[in-house]
Amino acid sequence: MTNRIQSFEEYQKEYEKSINEPEAFWASKAKQFTWRKEWDKVLEWNFDEPKVEWFKGGKLNITENCLDRHLAERGDKPAIIWEPNDAEADARTYSYKELHSEVCTMANVLRNQGVKKGDRVCIYMPMIPELAFAVLACARIGAIHSVVFGGFSANAIADRINDAACSFVITSDGMYRGDKHLAVKETVDEALKKCNTVDKVLVVKYTDRKVDMVAARDFWYHDAVASASQDCQPEVMDAEDILFILYTSGSTGKPKGVVHTTGGYMVYSEYTFRNVFQYEEEDIYWCTADIGWITGHSYIIYGPLLAGATTIMFEGVPTWPDPGRFWQIVERHKVNIFYTAPTAIRALMTRKLDFVTKHDLSSLKVLGSVGEPINEEAWNWYRNNIGKNELPIVDTWWQTETGGIMISPLANHSPMKPGFATYPLPGVQPVLLDGDGNEIEENGVEGYLAVKFPWPGMLRTTYGDHERCRRTYFETYKGYYFTGDGARRDPQGLYRVIGRVDDVINVSGHRFGTAEIENAIDEHPHVVEAAVVGFPHDIKGQGIYAYVICSEDCMDEAQLIKEIDQEVVKHIGKVARPDKIQIVDDLPKTRSGKIMRRILRKVAEGDTSNLGDITTLLNPEAVQEIIDGRK
Ligand code: WT7
Repeated sequence: MTNRIQSFEEYQKEYEKSINEPEAFWASKAKQFTWRKEWDKVLEWNFDEPKVEWFKGGKLNITENCLDRHLAERGDKPAIIWEPNDAEADARTYSYKELHSEVCTMANVLRNQGVKKGDRVCIYMPMIPELAFAVLACARIGAIHSVVFGGFSANAIADRINDAACSFVITSDGMYRGDKHLAVKETVDEALKKCNTVDKVLVVKYTDRKVDMVAARDFWYHDAVASASQDCQPEVMDAEDILFILYTSGSTGKPKGVVHTTGGYMVYSEYTFRNVFQYEEEDIYWCTADIGWITGHSYIIYGPLLAGATTIMFEGVPTWPDPGRFWQIVERHKVNIFYTAPTAIRALMTRKLDFVTKHDLSSLKVLGSVGEPINEEAWNWYRNNIGKNELPIVDTWWQTETGGIMISPLANHSPMKPGFATYPLPGVQPVLLDGDGNEIEENGVEGYLAVKFPWPGMLRTTYGDHERCRRTYFETYKGYYFTGDGARRDPQGLYRVIGRVDDVINVSGHRFGTAEIENAIDEHPHVVEAAVVGFPHDIKGQGIYAYVICSEDCMDEAQLIKEIDQEVVKHIGKVARPDKIQIVDDLPKTRSGKIMRRILRKVAEGDTSNLGDITTLLNPEAVQEIIDGRK
């Protein structure tokens, strides 16, 4: 079965077809899957409500497509290769048959505990195989998974559990990360003090860390497995039933639960996986992301398993025990397709080249990048040192909300240009808008990046608050899905996504709203007001810069800064710690009292030469003060 685009000409033809006859196009991609009942209608949509339905009336279970569908042909083929944190320890491989039975077993454990179709299950776990089993076990029985990244704090978990009213949590005792052994279950216990919807917590024993088990609420996975069968009939789902919720930050308020549904997400994640990476049957594929983010959902679990691929899951970090860890894994498993983030490349390129050259990277065929704009220097280093100056790099632009890759080269077929995600995939209709919402037709321009037609993997709503979804994505520019990104189109029509145009910062490929971090800082009793902005950071892409006004009875500054940092760790997690915290007497404001973020950004950047006219400010003297105190 080769339903993969084989040349740039074919891409152009496919693209044409996907625009002229989108329904026929996507129906032809959906046909290969196992449907319990075929859809009645391929697409119904409007971007006003918004309401988008793909493969309406179709019935299926996505795990039947990830697992059962492959058993006859590839039952013994490795589905998941798990590479542990400890570089000396053996990897573990699960064939499609084995993965099938692990998933069915866990699905039965959930069913036995009363989890039903439509229930929300929060998964908070390290990158161990049981995390993948848990995700698929939920999908098997029609429960909605909400995976929370392991770097989030108890408060952040509680917010997410409460927003979705989860009734069940799956976690582990502890986790390893580099040389550290960290608590996991303990963090869940802390979170659950603030939640009243959860009745059961399933705990996977992994690090043997001592944990408290709450009677009647908590139970061990290894105990429950004993009475669970390996046979599990998949729940038959509607194509538009919710598959999962994944929380992501925006410019205002708390993170929102992006909702993805079953049929469209399935078709889209598989199609994009196969075509962007030009996946071939024997390839070993490795995406270094964490399953706590959308990249892990779509391109560690669903996309690759739907395509019947071998997908590597790595528990550890790129720099431990040394900065050659990625390349050691590539050599060990003879990885063919390697997909990582610019931040990882930037961190590794500062180290001795020895860490790369001592490993045999000859298996590599395709390199990928995701999460943030990749700067030319990093692109070139990746291409020259990992790609032997000849491998294609696919710079994939997409978002939690898009479900899958939207703009990207197809490996070996599309033109490449450092820093450019290049052309939209078939079925994707991006546009650049000017400030008034008019489409800019010409090339060689910049604008706001929007999409004017639905694609199967797009979000359907934000959980429990459809109006918020409408306001966030469909209101700014009528008739379009607005991405929040600014982009440039070069004279040849290639896209370069420049970055966010809203108050969202991208730190090492992780999204945070400035308001979200400000709210965490505001929780400190001595903080009067805080303003957070992003600034260019050599490794992280963007760093977090916090300006904080504290009350008069303020304690000593160093102590306060420490406590503010802890406040962020407590409310969001270590992943959102500010890089710089500056205590200030005042923040520059307009006459109407609005904080002048533009000036704060400039100062954080260290560019104070051209601040524009500040004389109209309410308090122009505040500007010099923040310049003088700059960290
Ligand atoms: C934001 C989405 C998509 C999975 C990981 C991040 C930025 C993502 C690229 C790229 C330039 C990129 C955008 C986007 N972004 N990929 N290849 N080039 N920018 O998912 O957390 O939802 O963040 O990441 O700004 O809006 P996310």
